[in-house]
Amino acid sequence: MIKIRTNLLNPISPDKVQLLKDYTLGYENGIIKLIRPYDPNQDADGEQALDSVLIPGLIDLHTHLSQYWVRASYQPSLLPWLSQHIFPAEAKSKDPDYAQRVSNAFFQALFASGTTTAVIYTAPFKQACEIALETALHLGARALIGMTMMDTNSPPYLEQQTVQALDDSFELFERYNTRDSRIGYIFSPRFALSCSADLMKQTADFAHRHDAYIQSHISENKDEVAQVKELFGKRSYTQVYEDFGLLGSKTIMGHAIHLSGEEIDILARTNTAIAHCPESNFFLKSGEFPFAALLDKSLRIGLASDVAAGNSLSMWQQAKFASYRQSSLSLSPQRLFWHLTLGAAEALGWQERIGSLQPGKEADLCQIKLNALHALDEQLLSKLIYQSDEFRISKTIIQGNTVFQS
Ligand code: GUN
Ligand code: FE
Repeated sequence: MIKIRTNLLNPISPDKVQLLKDYTLGYENGIIKLIRPYDPNQDADGEQALDSVLIPGLIDLHTHLSQYWVRASYQPSLLPWLSQHIFPAEAKSKDPDYAQRVSNAFFQALFASGTTTAVIYTAPFKQACEIALETALHLGARALIGMTMMDTNSPPYLEQQTVQALDDSFELFERYNTRDSRIGYIFSPRFALSCSADLMKQTADFAHRHDAYIQSHISENKDEVAQVKELFGKRSYTQVYEDFGLLGSKTIMGHAIHLSGEEIDILARTNTAIAHCPESNFFLKSGEFPFAALLDKSLRIGLASDVAAGNSLSMWQQAKFASYRQSSLSLSPQRLFWHLTLGAAEALGWQERIGSLQPGKEADLCQIKLNALHALDEQLLSKLIYQSDEFRISKTIIQGNTVFQS
């Protein structure tokens, strides 16, 4: 068993985080085996890290691997940003060499940020997605990964044939979904504007038959919402997705900003999970996430980097932006931490496996080196969230394997 003598920050509920000082956490075969106050008689053999705090690995509920190198490309409006910067950048992943390099860089940066679980779009090329999946397997990431699907209204160099997009996705699902307990496949129709009715419906049918995950974008930008209304006969964005069968407890919808009360009711009734992408929403001037209204309906919410509209893979940055993004709602450090960890695990249905420090759960951990700014008191979490550029992540562990160390 590997033991670490350290301090622990552990999410208990949206309002409560435990700070456990001078504890030992032990793990073996990828599973947390013990958590107890340091006992010199039993635990003197452990790694000494009292100058650190150990937290559950962070969870990024929505990000785009193939966009990693076009972050910070300025154009503060979704649709022009996609055409000018994102579509040409995704096209580069047609080259397997590029796809491999960006996959390596992405996962290294993810681990260096303390993120142990990510829900990932790649590009609309089967091989690029395959390379991302193989890289994730090779490096020991925990991730849901999907090939971005787009079969209409898209630049010709990205647009897929409907049947091909479906067949490629089904094949990737069959080959990768159960190959390793850390990796799953997620069906990834880009958004209603770039997907045909046929593509959305057949994706949903297959995913439901196989109990598979689905991700997409919803109501991110006002022009996008208006175009969806126009294209789909005046129905609301949420209604369009519901009609095609894309909503449900294994669906993660990114953004969810411009929603009516009726649409929020549909998301709640279908138990759809929501990825909130606060930095992205600032960068593209998309709008303010209706946090209070969604919490009011008990929707499951996780935070997300949404690279490349988010400029950083740091989930601490995302927590800070989530707080700043709300013009009147106050989000406590405890609540923000919840949406980075156990709350996000719940959004994935993985709350029994990951998201908090508990014997029996998988050993997904992030170790942070404390410094003169930090005291082991009730302000520690607040300092981690609001001053994340002033501490160092010293180790990231996924299922008991150290994937990053500094
Ligand atoms: N909507 C459709 N595609 C995308 C994307 O790649 N990024 C963001 N932020 N929104 C989208
Ligand atoms: Fe996105």
